[in-house]
Amino acid sequence: KRVLSVASEAVPLVKTGGLADVVGALPEALAGQGWEMRVMLPAYRGVLDRLAATTVVWSDPDLFGGPAEVHLGKVGTMEVMALSAPHLYDRAGGPYSDLHGDFGDNAERFAALCWAAAAVAREGAEDWRPDVLHAHDWQGALAPAYLRYAGASLPSLITIHNMAFQGRVGADKMGALRLPREAFHRDGYEFWGDISTLKAGLTTADAITTVSPRYAEELMRGEYGQGLEGVIAARAGVVVGILNGIDDRVWNPETDPECISFSVTNISGKSKNRKALQAEFQLEKKIDEPLVILVSRLTAQKGIDLLPPAVEELVARGGALALLGSGDSWAEDLVRGLAARFPGRVGVRIGYDESLSHRMFAGADAVLVPSRFEPCGLTQLYGLRYGCLPLVSAVGGLADTVIGASPASLAGQAATGVVFHPVDALALRQGMRQLCDLHADRRIWTAMMKRAMKSDLGWSRSAARYAALYERLLAR
Ligand code: ADP
Ligand code: GLC
Repeated sequence: KRVLSVASEAVPLVKTGGLADVVGALPEALAGQGWEMRVMLPAYRGVLDRLAATTVVWSDPDLFGGPAEVHLGKVGTMEVMALSAPHLYDRAGGPYSDLHGDFGDNAERFAALCWAAAAVAREGAEDWRPDVLHAHDWQGALAPAYLRYAGASLPSLITIHNMAFQGRVGADKMGALRLPREAFHRDGYEFWGDISTLKAGLTTADAITTVSPRYAEELMRGEYGQGLEGVIAARAGVVVGILNGIDDRVWNPETDPECISFSVTNISGKSKNRKALQAEFQLEKKIDEPLVILVSRLTAQKGIDLLPPAVEELVARGGALALLGSGDSWAEDLVRGLAARFPGRVGVRIGYDESLSHRMFAGADAVLVPSRFEPCGLTQLYGLRYGCLPLVSAVGGLADTVIGASPASLAGQAATGVVFHPVDALALRQGMRQLCDLHADRRIWTAMMKRAMKSDLGWSRSAARYAALYERLLAR
């Protein structure tokens, strides 16, 4: 059976966040469940060069203002349908923006992706036709909508990776986005007088998934739902949370080419990785105090503004912080300020560096994820796998994947990290204090580390849940 996945990013072709990791890992995971998944994404500049053995399987002389072709090709084991439409995608910069900011025609760019996906889903491309369409986030959300508006019966589902991004544009774009006026109402794609492409998907897909069960529940509340809580609550019967996994081929301390190999049974490599990490960030070479990392987009979502008191606590306890990230300028300034205040104890790298991130998980004792909201989160999972214990806020997927140390969870030998709540600077500081106390007790810490490394974090369980959902949709 066949499924067409529609998204704006996929590892290894283009990545700005966890969405790409997940979209890139799903095809292999689902192959194990008997589902052949192809990924449709825009052929941003350079993408076609990275695909092996491409053939053109679909074309349209006028896709939102210019000619377009779908090139079928492969990268690794992933089958990719890259939508080439030079007027929309052949540009310098990232997938959504360049140095001057977001592209002004992003709504059209991703509507075009969805239009092509819906057309392939309905008519097929050469001899390939999917049984199910699986859209991701607002960029993919119009695909189920176009199917529905055209009266097609092909089953569809949409996965919400982040409700904070909704693809909202003025109603004057209705014609340009090829949206039917009849569906412009509060139970359709209308949102406070505007168009919401995410809402179009949420109101038309046959099923909605979130990337953790907790996030599905949170989304029905105003604090998290960002105005769409009513839509999610109204469709609660078809909303399910399916946790993200991590790609074992990429995140595995036994085979990771970026570090000295280690495992639960042979943990000694970890301390060598630790020394290397201290050197790389020019941190004091301490042995007994916690070495903590943070690898993240630097934005309000990620709770960066909450850091200073917790970092003061960590430094006062003799620990150190290595931080890698990029994002909003206020947040970059804030973390640079911490490095300037605590030389040798706080090291900061502004930028995006996949290899360095691997060395950080391999060498550190703990990873900090103080998010205000977190649909799933992947860095806490990498941390668990690499024996780098997560200190996380009790939200979304963080709450679903980390067992916080408490008298009960320690007595039951279940704890795998530290979980703090509410999401404020005081609670984060208290969490940091607890982390330092736990770390000081070698016996408890080592037991937690081994437990974390043994947790089941791969894709197989979640892939089985997606497959079961596809089957249910097909059987309707
Ligand atoms: P989000 O998608 O909201 O950013 P996730 O935790 O799901 O959060 O995924 C973030 C992904 O991006 C992870 O794979 C993480 O390692 C990676 N990442 C984030 N910032 C950086 C960075 N500066 N350098 C390298 N990798 C990064
Ligand atoms: C989003 C979320 C993140 C999630 C990722 C992959 O970027 O912010 O929590 O892990 O998507 O699903």
